[in-house]
Amino acid sequence: MSKVRRARGPGRVNLIGDHTDYNEGLALPMAIGLGADITFTPSDSPLIVVESTAYDQRVAIPLGQPGSPHGPASDLATREPAWSRLIAAMIALCRPPFGGTIHIQSTVPAGSGLSSSAAVAVALAEVLTSRREAVEVARLCQEAEHLAGVPVGIMDPLICAGGREGHALLIDFSTLATQEVALPSELEVIVVDSGQPRTLGASGYATRVAECRSAARVIGPLGLASEESLSSLVDPLLRKRARHVITESRRTQECAVALGEGRVVEAGALMVESHLSLAHDFEVSTDRLDGLVEALVGRPGVLGARMTGAGFGGAVVALTRPGALDLSTIPEAAWRVEAVDGTVAVRR
Ligand code: GLA
Repeated sequence: MSKVRRARGPGRVNLIGDHTDYNEGLALPMAIGLGADITFTPSDSPLIVVESTAYDQRVAIPLGQPGSPHGPASDLATREPAWSRLIAAMIALCRPPFGGTIHIQSTVPAGSGLSSSAAVAVALAEVLTSRREAVEVARLCQEAEHLAGVPVGIMDPLICAGGREGHALLIDFSTLATQEVALPSELEVIVVDSGQPRTLGASGYATRVAECRSAARVIGPLGLASEESLSSLVDPLLRKRARHVITESRRTQECAVALGEGRVVEAGALMVESHLSLAHDFEVSTDRLDGLVEALVGRPGVLGARMTGAGFGGAVVALTRPGALDLSTIPEAAWRVEAVDGTVAVRR
């Protein structure tokens, strides 16, 4: 019997570039210290028993169950409890040769937009497979999310696997090329949880993916389209959605350059513009997220803030001067986060 395997999958915060990944655009996320710790203890059982400290429940997943590449995949998307869908999908795709127990302990709050699920998925990829490269790991995890019924892009598993300590990664989703952007030391990254949870399955995420696809049928992949091409979109709703993606990719590029050159005030201003675009053109913000961003930006030493991730609830990310925010004065759960290595970098 093979040995106990352990891995830690980090969560992530996206500094700028949301709803660009499934549109061949750009994003600038970083892996963070909040993460999921997974232990896989193999046994000669034909089952994998999964226990998570977040849920008062254990689930048993038979090896080679329906939903594996040999069975009807649709079962995975309706599996109960819902938290076990992604795990069952990862097991179905990884096809471990033996059963055992998987224990999950995570410090990434679920539904906060900090990729609690990608943190678990990349850690599972570490303990269940021998996939070596971040892009390979990310593709596997994305396929599992799709089997589990959520049409996500590849950003979250790619940064959770490929993140680098002290850096954000500028990801170009048209090629999956990444570029490390060193985060200036005279900067802090603060994450504030709005306390308004969302699940991607129940949010308008799939509707946004479909709207972007409709716009792309007219002007091509939105992340590669020009602002001039927007006039070809007759439907005002599709035009707004496309305008967000096109301008967001431009802002992301500019923000990466600004951060790389230490122009932190400019980087912060781009984050605020990004929030407004997500709120008005993409319509994925909420009153609570808007209120948080406004309150944070009004504080001295805060350079910029925006909702982060899919939206419809979840968290806000702020860039600040060191020590500008006393977290004890923020009523919501808040963290000062640093960029850490993803699962692939930890292995090297
Ligand atoms: C979620 C998805 C990602 C990405 C973001 C929005 O986190 O999992 O693929 O689309 O939303 O940028």
